[in-house]
Amino acid sequence: MENIEANLKTARSYTKVELEDKELYQRELALLSSQWIFIDHISSFKKVGDYKVYELLEESVIVVKTEYGFSGHLNFCSHRGSTLCEKKQGHAKAFTCPYHNWSFEIDGKLKSAPSCSMTSLQKSENSLKKVDIKDVEGILFAGLNVGSMVDFETVKRELNPLFSWQGLSKAKVAHTCTFTLSANWKLAVDNFMECYHCYANHPEMCKQLIHPKVTSTESPTQYKQFEKVYVDWCQKTAVLGHPIGGDQNVDVNADQFIVTLRSVLNTNTASYGKDGESLAPLMGKYKVNDNGETFGFCGPMTHFSMPTDFAFIFRINVRSISETTIELHWLVDEDAKEDVDYNVTDLSWFWKTTMKQDIIAIERAAAGARSRFFQPAVYNALEHNSALFSIWYRERIAAISQNATSRVPAPNGALLLRSSS
Ligand code: FES
Ligand SMILES: [Fe+2]
Repeated sequence: MENIEANLKTARSYTKVELEDKELYQRELALLSSQWIFIDHISSFKKVGDYKVYELLEESVIVVKTEYGFSGHLNFCSHRGSTLCEKKQGHAKAFTCPYHNWSFEIDGKLKSAPSCSMTSLQKSENSLKKVDIKDVEGILFAGLNVGSMVDFETVKRELNPLFSWQGLSKAKVAHTCTFTLSANWKLAVDNFMECYHCYANHPEMCKQLIHPKVTSTESPTQYKQFEKVYVDWCQKTAVLGHPIGGDQNVDVNADQFIVTLRSVLNTNTASYGKDGESLAPLMGKYKVNDNGETFGFCGPMTHFSMPTDFAFIFRINVRSISETTIELHWLVDEDAKEDVDYNVTDLSWFWKTTMKQDIIAIERAAAGARSRFFQPAVYNALEHNSALFSIWYRERIAAISQNATSRVPAPNGALLLRSSS
């Protein structure tokens, strides 16, 4: 703990090397490939054989519903590497490669290879490359580093209580959209882990929600206003038996840190409608709207905000060292009917508005950081989780760099290690 406090005092935002070095970037991809990252919801797949193709950490990934759950494969053929699925989604009994017609079962096993006589061992060696797919209450997570992923049971145990309250296993996807931004992925993570920027960038959020009074300023007057609303909400919510509180700090020692917290939106804010109104039928175990929401993140790339009537989940996806996408999903109760119980325009208004504001802010930060004279700066108390994430990131990148330099002496390894300490 003392170490963390000391590290927090000296923590700085990202150096130009950390934002631009291509070798370091490959190590970042290796680090992120061991993290469980939100990919979709089970309701996107109705029947065995339904599949979708996703971009994840510069890889193309096929996720397919099988008899036993879900399988994930890298979207290239084991013969000469041709792209296997060019459609973004569909239904398949098998995947047939367009190049020489090798055919694969939906679980990835090689089914047939025209004019090749193969032993069953050779066949099994030519299965598609696997991607791990796991499920927490209907939320699907993908992991690329099969065999060396972080422990999923720990992730599941931490997410399960609040995901279960939200009834996510009985939800459906109401809407998705993707934003692309010209910025290194860490600048997006940096932004989404703090609300110091909220007063300057999110007028709608600051009007409707109470938390910016403590997450965007250290004003004692505003703290008192927040405290009154929060204490009152806790008392009422406790009577209802709904969950309250949770973990709010990034654990720098966790292989995959999880922040999940249930708190108040505001006294008269039931959800994310333009006037704070509800937008869809209640979800899960919530029988009344208590003006609360579950929010947090699962590792650096998966973030969520879930009032009692819908769930908003987004994934930060790395497209290149300087391009990032934000992939947004809105979920509602599986029985809710579009244009009767909810409509997509209202449902998505708040987070689309807020996300566009975030993207402008992140791209401005990225543009400034391209200056030859750019220097990283300290974090303040309102950027606590961003600072903790920078510590988590640097410790892990240093370990990966050390491993790599002890095996293969990299010419600029020393530079990378110095910049990461
Ligand atoms: S590359 Fe797929 S069958 Fe040859
Ligand atoms: Fe923001």
